[in-house]
Amino acid sequence: LNSSLRPIGVFDSGVGGLTVLKALRERLPHESFVYLGDTARLPYGTKSRESIERYALQAAALLMRQDIKCLVVACNTASAVALPILQSKFSALPVIGVVEPGAEAGCSASRSGRIAVIGTEGTIRGKAYESAISRIRHDAVVTAIACPLFVALAEEGLIDGPIVEAIAHRYLDSAFSTPSATRPDTLVLGCTHFPVLAHALRQVVGDVVIVDSAHTTAVALELQLQRREILYQGALAGRGTMRLLATDGCERFARVGSIFLGSAISSSDIELVDLGV
Ligand code: DGL
Repeated sequence: LNSSLRPIGVFDSGVGGLTVLKALRERLPHESFVYLGDTARLPYGTKSRESIERYALQAAALLMRQDIKCLVVACNTASAVALPILQSKFSALPVIGVVEPGAEAGCSASRSGRIAVIGTEGTIRGKAYESAISRIRHDAVVTAIACPLFVALAEEGLIDGPIVEAIAHRYLDSAFSTPSATRPDTLVLGCTHFPVLAHALRQVVGDVVIVDSAHTTAVALELQLQRREILYQGALAGRGTMRLLATDGCERFARVGSIFLGSAISSSDIELVDLGV
Protein backbone atom coordinates (compact mmCIF):
# COMPACT_ATOMS: atom_id res chain seq x y z
CA LEU A 1 0.00 0.00 0.00
CA ASN A 2 1.18 3.55 -0.75
CA SER A 3 2.76 4.60 2.57
CA SER A 4 0.60 7.66 3.04
CA LEU A 5 -2.55 5.52 2.90
CA ARG A 6 -1.45 3.08 5.61
CA PRO A 7 -3.10 3.43 9.03
CA ILE A 8 -1.58 4.95 12.14
CA GLY A 9 -1.28 2.55 15.09
CA VAL A 10 -2.22 3.74 18.56
CA PHE A 11 -2.11 1.77 21.81
CA ASP A 12 -2.83 2.03 25.49
CA SER A 13 -3.36 -0.44 28.31
CA GLY A 14 -7.11 0.15 28.03
CA VAL A 15 -9.61 2.77 26.96
CA GLY A 16 -7.56 5.75 28.24
CA GLY A 17 -5.75 6.23 24.94
CA LEU A 18 -9.09 6.89 23.28
CA THR A 19 -8.80 10.44 24.70
CA VAL A 20 -5.71 10.79 22.52
CA LEU A 21 -7.28 9.02 19.53
CA LYS A 22 -10.15 11.50 19.66
CA ALA A 23 -7.73 14.44 19.36
CA LEU A 24 -5.73 12.70 16.60
CA ARG A 25 -8.87 12.13 14.54
CA GLU A 26 -10.01 15.69 15.04
CA ARG A 27 -6.71 17.09 13.82
CA LEU A 28 -6.12 14.53 11.05
CA PRO A 29 -9.63 13.51 9.91
CA HIS A 30 -8.50 11.85 6.67
CA GLU A 31 -6.04 9.50 8.35
CA SER A 32 -7.05 5.94 9.22
CA PHE A 33 -6.32 4.58 12.69
CA VAL A 34 -6.03 1.20 14.32
CA TYR A 35 -6.26 1.35 18.11
CA LEU A 36 -5.28 -1.41 20.51
CA GLY A 37 -6.39 -1.46 24.15
CA ASP A 38 -4.49 -4.14 26.06
CA THR A 39 -7.39 -4.59 28.46
CA ALA A 40 -6.38 -8.13 29.42
CA ARG A 41 -3.28 -6.81 31.17
CA LEU A 42 -4.42 -3.42 32.45
CA PRO A 43 -3.22 -1.65 34.53
CA TYR A 44 0.31 -1.12 33.25
CA GLY A 45 0.96 1.61 35.80
CA THR A 46 1.49 -0.64 38.81
CA LYS A 47 3.79 -3.10 36.99
CA SER A 48 7.58 -3.35 36.93
CA ARG A 49 9.72 -1.78 34.21
CA GLU A 50 10.40 -5.23 32.73
CA SER A 51 6.71 -6.08 32.42
CA ILE A 52 5.79 -2.69 30.98
CA GLU A 53 8.53 -2.97 28.35
CA ARG A 54 7.45 -6.49 27.43
CA TYR A 55 3.77 -5.51 27.18
CA ALA A 56 4.56 -2.43 25.11
CA LEU A 57 6.76 -4.41 22.70
CA GLN A 58 4.04 -7.02 22.23
CA ALA A 59 1.31 -4.42 21.69
CA ALA A 60 3.51 -2.58 19.18
CA ALA A 61 4.38 -5.83 17.36
CA LEU A 62 0.69 -6.62 16.90
CA LEU A 63 0.07 -3.18 15.41
CA MET A 64 3.10 -3.58 13.11
CA ARG A 65 1.37 -6.62 11.65
CA GLN A 66 -1.46 -4.25 10.65
CA ASP A 67 1.03 -2.51 8.34
CA ILE A 68 0.95 0.82 10.20
CA LYS A 69 2.99 3.80 9.00
CA CYS A 70 3.51 5.35 12.42
CA LEU A 71 3.02 4.35 16.06
CA VAL A 72 1.53 6.56 18.77
CA VAL A 73 2.07 5.29 22.30
CA ALA A 74 -1.12 6.75 23.82
CA CYS A 75 -0.14 5.63 27.30
CA ASN A 76 2.06 7.72 29.56
CA THR A 77 3.29 4.68 31.46
CA ALA A 78 4.47 2.91 28.30
CA SER A 79 5.87 6.21 26.96
CA ALA A 80 7.75 6.96 30.18
CA VAL A 81 9.17 3.47 30.54
CA ALA A 82 9.36 1.86 27.10
CA LEU A 83 9.70 4.61 24.48
CA PRO A 84 13.48 4.12 23.97
CA ILE A 85 13.12 0.36 23.49
CA LEU A 86 10.15 0.81 21.14
CA GLN A 87 12.02 3.40 19.10
CA SER A 88 15.08 1.22 18.77
CA LYS A 89 13.17 -1.96 18.01
CA PHE A 90 10.86 -0.32 15.45
CA SER A 91 13.30 2.23 14.08
CA ALA A 92 11.84 2.09 10.55
CA LEU A 93 8.74 3.99 11.72
CA PRO A 94 8.17 7.16 13.70
CA VAL A 95 7.24 6.18 17.27
CA ILE A 96 5.64 9.03 19.19
CA GLY A 97 5.01 9.05 22.93
CA VAL A 98 2.75 11.29 25.01
CA VAL A 99 5.12 12.41 27.79
CA GLU A 100 7.06 14.95 25.72
CA PRO A 101 3.83 16.51 24.32
CA GLY A 102 2.31 16.54 27.83
CA ALA A 103 5.39 18.30 29.19
CA GLU A 104 5.17 20.86 26.39
CA ALA A 105 1.50 21.52 27.14
CA GLY A 106 2.31 22.01 30.84
CA CYS A 107 5.20 24.36 30.16
CA SER A 108 3.24 26.57 27.81
CA ALA A 109 0.24 26.73 30.17
CA SER A 110 2.20 27.64 33.30
CA ARG A 111 3.01 31.23 34.18
CA SER A 112 4.83 30.62 37.44
CA GLY A 113 6.74 27.49 36.39
CA ARG A 114 5.25 25.56 39.32
CA ILE A 115 3.76 22.52 37.61
CA ALA A 116 2.06 19.51 39.17
CA VAL A 117 1.97 16.25 37.23
CA ILE A 118 -0.25 13.31 38.08
CA GLY A 119 0.13 9.86 36.59
CA THR A 120 0.54 6.20 37.42
CA GLU A 121 3.26 4.84 39.69
CA GLY A 122 5.16 3.64 36.62
CA THR A 123 5.16 7.10 35.06
CA ILE A 124 6.03 9.00 38.23
CA ARG A 125 8.70 6.53 39.43
CA GLY A 126 10.97 7.07 36.43
CA LYS A 127 10.77 10.91 36.69
CA ALA A 128 10.05 11.10 32.96
CA TYR A 129 7.97 14.26 33.32
CA GLU A 130 10.54 16.03 35.50
CA SER A 131 13.18 15.36 32.86
CA ALA A 132 10.97 16.35 29.92
CA ILE A 133 9.77 19.55 31.64
CA SER A 134 13.23 20.64 32.76
CA ARG A 135 14.55 20.19 29.21
CA ILE A 136 11.92 22.69 28.03
CA ARG A 137 11.89 25.00 31.02
CA HIS A 138 14.93 24.95 33.30
CA ASP A 139 13.36 27.05 36.05
CA ALA A 140 10.28 24.82 36.44
CA VAL A 141 9.45 23.35 39.83
CA VAL A 142 7.68 20.04 39.29
CA THR A 143 5.55 18.24 41.87
CA ALA A 144 4.86 14.71 40.64
CA ILE A 145 2.14 12.65 42.30
CA ALA A 146 1.22 9.03 41.59
CA CYS A 147 -2.57 8.54 41.53
CA PRO A 148 -3.05 4.88 40.63
CA LEU A 149 -6.67 4.63 41.82
CA PHE A 150 -7.76 7.15 39.21
CA VAL A 151 -7.11 4.54 36.50
CA ALA A 152 -9.50 2.07 38.15
CA LEU A 153 -12.16 4.76 38.59
CA ALA A 154 -11.91 5.88 34.98
CA GLU A 155 -11.96 2.31 33.63
CA GLU A 156 -15.08 1.78 35.73
CA GLY A 157 -16.72 4.84 34.15
CA LEU A 158 -16.85 6.39 37.64
CA ILE A 159 -15.70 9.86 36.68
CA ASP A 160 -17.57 12.30 38.88
CA GLY A 161 -19.13 12.73 42.30
CA PRO A 162 -18.13 12.38 45.97
CA ILE A 163 -16.09 9.16 45.70
CA VAL A 164 -13.87 10.53 42.95
CA GLU A 165 -13.50 13.84 44.75
CA ALA A 166 -12.64 12.17 48.07
CA ILE A 167 -9.85 10.19 46.41
CA ALA A 168 -8.67 13.29 44.59
CA HIS A 169 -8.48 15.16 47.92
CA ARG A 170 -6.40 12.37 49.36
CA TYR A 171 -3.91 12.51 46.48
CA LEU A 172 -3.83 16.23 45.76
CA ASP A 173 -4.47 18.23 48.92
CA SER A 174 -0.87 18.25 50.08
CA ALA A 175 0.20 19.88 46.81
CA PHE A 176 -2.76 22.22 46.32
CA SER A 177 -3.79 23.24 49.86
CA THR A 178 -0.66 25.34 50.16
CA PRO A 179 -0.32 29.16 50.16
CA SER A 180 -0.81 30.56 46.69
CA ALA A 181 2.84 31.69 46.49
CA THR A 182 3.97 28.06 46.42
CA ARG A 183 0.94 26.36 44.86
CA PRO A 184 1.30 24.95 41.33
CA ASP A 185 -0.62 27.00 38.75
CA THR A 186 -0.85 24.11 36.28
CA LEU A 187 -1.89 20.48 36.58
CA VAL A 188 -0.69 18.11 33.85
CA LEU A 189 -2.83 15.01 33.46
CA GLY A 190 0.07 12.62 32.85
CA CYS A 191 -2.12 9.60 32.24
CA THR A 192 -4.42 9.21 29.26
CA HIS A 193 -7.16 7.90 31.55
CA PHE A 194 -7.39 11.16 33.48
CA PRO A 195 -8.98 13.68 31.08
CA VAL A 196 -12.41 12.16 31.76
CA LEU A 197 -11.91 13.02 35.46
CA ALA A 198 -11.17 16.69 34.73
CA HIS A 199 -14.45 17.99 36.09
CA ALA A 200 -14.03 16.23 39.44
CA LEU A 201 -10.37 17.28 39.65
CA ARG A 202 -11.37 20.89 39.04
CA GLN A 203 -13.58 20.77 42.19
CA VAL A 204 -10.52 19.77 44.21
CA VAL A 205 -7.68 21.87 42.75
CA GLY A 206 -9.66 25.04 42.13
CA ASP A 207 -8.30 27.76 39.90
CA VAL A 208 -5.47 25.92 38.18
CA VAL A 209 -4.91 25.31 34.48
CA ILE A 210 -5.56 21.65 33.72
CA VAL A 211 -3.85 20.29 30.60
CA ASP A 212 -3.28 16.90 28.99
CA SER A 213 -1.18 15.61 26.13
CA ALA A 214 -3.91 14.84 23.58
CA HIS A 215 -3.77 18.05 21.54
CA THR A 216 0.03 18.47 21.59
CA THR A 217 0.44 14.80 20.63
CA ALA A 218 -1.79 15.39 17.60
CA VAL A 219 0.42 18.34 16.61
CA ALA A 220 3.57 16.23 17.08
CA LEU A 221 2.07 13.43 14.98
CA GLU A 222 1.15 15.78 12.15
CA LEU A 223 4.66 17.22 12.15
CA GLN A 224 6.27 13.76 11.98
CA LEU A 225 3.99 12.67 9.13
CA GLN A 226 4.82 15.85 7.22
CA ARG A 227 8.54 15.46 7.83
CA ARG A 228 8.55 11.88 6.61
CA GLU A 229 6.20 12.76 3.74
CA ILE A 230 3.66 10.16 4.80
CA LEU A 231 0.74 12.47 5.60
CA TYR A 232 -2.43 11.13 3.94
CA GLN A 233 -2.26 11.85 0.20
CA GLY A 234 -5.40 10.15 -1.06
CA ALA A 235 -8.53 11.75 -2.47
CA LEU A 236 -9.64 14.06 0.32
CA ALA A 237 -13.25 12.94 0.45
CA GLY A 238 -14.67 11.69 3.73
CA ARG A 239 -13.08 10.56 6.96
CA GLY A 240 -10.43 7.93 7.43
CA THR A 241 -11.38 4.65 9.04
CA MET A 242 -10.99 3.64 12.68
CA ARG A 243 -10.50 0.05 13.86
CA LEU A 244 -10.67 -0.79 17.55
CA LEU A 245 -8.89 -3.86 18.93
CA ALA A 246 -8.91 -5.14 22.51
CA THR A 247 -7.30 -8.08 24.25
CA ASP A 248 -10.30 -8.67 26.53
CA GLY A 249 -13.84 -7.56 27.34
CA CYS A 250 -15.31 -6.10 24.14
CA GLU A 251 -18.62 -5.23 25.80
CA ARG A 252 -16.96 -3.33 28.65
CA PHE A 253 -14.52 -1.68 26.24
CA ALA A 254 -17.42 -0.38 24.13
CA ARG A 255 -19.46 0.79 27.11
CA VAL A 256 -16.69 2.67 28.91
CA GLY A 257 -14.74 3.57 25.76
CA SER A 258 -17.61 5.70 24.49
CA ILE A 259 -17.02 8.15 27.36
CA PHE A 260 -13.34 8.46 26.43
CA LEU A 261 -13.81 8.69 22.66
CA GLY A 262 -16.73 11.08 23.06
CA SER A 263 -18.85 9.12 20.59
CA ALA A 264 -20.84 5.89 20.75
CA ILE A 265 -19.02 2.58 20.29
CA SER A 266 -20.88 -0.71 20.05
CA SER A 267 -19.32 -3.99 21.18
CA SER A 268 -19.64 -5.35 17.64
CA ASP A 269 -17.17 -2.59 16.61
CA ILE A 270 -14.45 -4.12 18.79
CA GLU A 271 -12.22 -6.92 17.47
CA LEU A 272 -10.85 -9.27 20.10
CA VAL A 273 -7.15 -9.99 19.51
CA ASP A 274 -4.59 -12.27 21.08
CA LEU A 275 -1.07 -10.99 21.61
CA GLY A 276 0.08 -14.60 21.55
CA VAL A 277 1.59 -14.72 25.03
N1 DGL B 1 -3.47 5.14 30.42
C1 DGL B 1 -2.19 4.76 30.94
C2 DGL B 1 -1.29 5.95 31.08
O1 DGL B 1 -1.45 6.92 30.37
C3 DGL B 1 -2.05 3.91 32.12
C4 DGL B 1 -3.14 3.23 32.80
C5 DGL B 1 -2.61 1.97 33.41
O2 DGL B 1 -2.12 1.98 34.55
O3 DGL B 1 -2.66 0.97 32.71
O4 DGL B 1 -0.37 5.95 31.87
